[in-house]
Amino acid sequence: ALISLRQLLDHAAEYGYGVPAFNVNNLEQMRAIMEAAAETDSPVIVQASAGARKYAGAPFLRHLILAAIEEWPDIPVCMHQDHGTSPAVCQRSIQLGFSSVMMDGSLLEDGKTPSSYDYNVEVTRKVVEMAHACGVSVEGELGCLGSLESGKAGEEDGIGAEGHLDHSQLLTDPNEAADFVKKTGVDALAIAIGTSHGAYKFTRPPTGDILAIERIKEIHARIPTVHLVMHGSSSVPQEWLKIINEYGGDMGETYGVPVEEIVEGIKHGVRKVNIDTDLRMASTGAIRKNLAEDRKNFDPRKYLIAATKAMKEICKARYEAFGTAGNA
Ligand code: G3H
Ligand code: 13P
Ligand code: ZN
Repeated sequence: ALISLRQLLDHAAEYGYGVPAFNVNNLEQMRAIMEAAAETDSPVIVQASAGARKYAGAPFLRHLILAAIEEWPDIPVCMHQDHGTSPAVCQRSIQLGFSSVMMDGSLLEDGKTPSSYDYNVEVTRKVVEMAHACGVSVEGELGCLGSLESGKAGEEDGIGAEGHLDHSQLLTDPNEAADFVKKTGVDALAIAIGTSHGAYKFTRPPTGDILAIERIKEIHARIPTVHLVMHGSSSVPQEWLKIINEYGGDMGETYGVPVEEIVEGIKHGVRKVNIDTDLRMASTGAIRKNLAEDRKNFDPRKYLIAATKAMKEICKARYEAFGTAGNA
């Protein structure tokens, strides 16, 4: 059944678990996410980015998610729009039947220029007014996602701030968060706490203090009823990185957010955990390996099944680690 982000995350907060929000672009990702959820009895958040709409087209994306709900009627599914760049984009998603939208007012409409606080409040407030009238939840974002190591947003080809970000932009301010929530009425808030989008988050193996846990605690204490969202939460699996490179790929050395640190964040108020890169890496690695090992094959279903299986294993592992399992 389709449920809103607010309904899903209120339950997660009550029972102290987190929910991975996986990006979806195609049938294989959708099946992987749903089969993993069915096997672990987990509620689901699937999110569609601007890139996904461009790739699949809005009607296909919408029906992909509706098909999942039809095939698995007992699993609660939140249909979320990722990184909306304007109220108009969010309005279209609401009309399409999404049960949740993100208004990312931390950046201007170009999706790369950091905006002013007042701009962010204004566009987000507008979306909340529109969405809540339709029973749709809203996620806002305060602070700019980026690496504390480099001051860079990290995402090479997608959404993310351009140029150098200073330390104060890279960590969400708890007082500002309280004011933002009061002025906008968002259901969930994406915060900047040291993560960044894409595969190239950290250049060295993490040593256990990637996330600004103290900052998460402070923000959570100020806005306890608003669900915290962590973007850029892929763990960048080293085993898949190795397989990609073993079978003809060329990815550089890189590290992500360790699952144990995400679990620590969940203990302190993080409820929605955005993951895209991990599934991209698993499917690419599985396809490269499958094609290399079965050179006579020309049936796409064979390597796409391998990709689906690889993504499904990641989804199951996250549902289990975040405590989502058993809560559908
Ligand atoms: O937030 C970024 C997500 O990883 C989606 O990126 O627009 O390339 O689909 P995308
Ligand atoms: P990753 O690139 O770490 O998977 O983050 C995805 C994300 O935040 C989508 O909004
Ligand atoms: Zn994001």
